[in-house]
Amino acid sequence: MEVLEALRTRRSIGKLEGDVTDVELRQLVEAGLWAPNHKLTDPLRFVALRGAARERLGQVWAEVAGAVELPPGVTRENFVAKEARKPLRAPLLLAVGVRTDEDAEVAEEDFATAAAAVQNVLLAAHALGLGAIWRTGGMVLAPAIRKHLGFAPTDRIAGIVYVGRPAMVPPTPQPRDVDAHLTILD
Ligand SMILES: Cc1cc2nc3c(=O)[nH]c(=O)nc-3n(C[C@H](O)[C@H](O)[C@H](O)COP(=O)(O)O)c2cc1C
Repeated sequence: MEVLEALRTRRSIGKLEGDVTDVELRQLVEAGLWAPNHKLTDPLRFVALRGAARERLGQVWAEVAGAVELPPGVTRENFVAKEARKPLRAPLLLAVGVRTDEDAEVAEEDFATAAAAVQNVLLAAHALGLGAIWRTGGMVLAPAIRKHLGFAPTDRIAGIVYVGRPAMVPPTPQPRDVDAHLTILD
């Protein structure tokens, strides 16, 4: 698939099913590793979760999520059970972790590399005919999740990409208005 066509036609796909092969998984990670990276610091680490590993992540996440104050009318049991199921929304979860350099400028650039890597993964998934969605929220911020996935306490997770076979047709996006977003200085 041509690059411009891929980035125009890629959409977040939240409903995912089926399986992702090892070959596809490796292609996704390789695409992530082609992200531009200033000073070639090699800051990225990917953790792929499949099968029961998603259930174990759900259990850890449910404990974290269940510890907060709940909205009125929601029982803790229902809330925790719902949160525990979240990682089961796709056959493959790919966590994109990034080291936090001691130098704040390098750390910021490395996080930008991680964001570019996530987009590369999304585009590669699309080009392979897979569906994918970039998810963040409390799960990527929780120290217990970082630890569970084997990241260092100072690492950050730029996103967890949920990947599978598309099980929905995404809504048609608004066309992009270049003029409203562009200033040209000659
Ligand atoms: C940094 C970042 C975090 C995101 N986190 C979530 C998320 O936690 N849950 C979710 O449903 N979508 C998440 N998304 C996906 C966006 O909602 C999605 O990209 C947006 O709705 C535009 O849709 P599109 O990707 O189809 O163009 C995230 C996107 C980005 C860039």
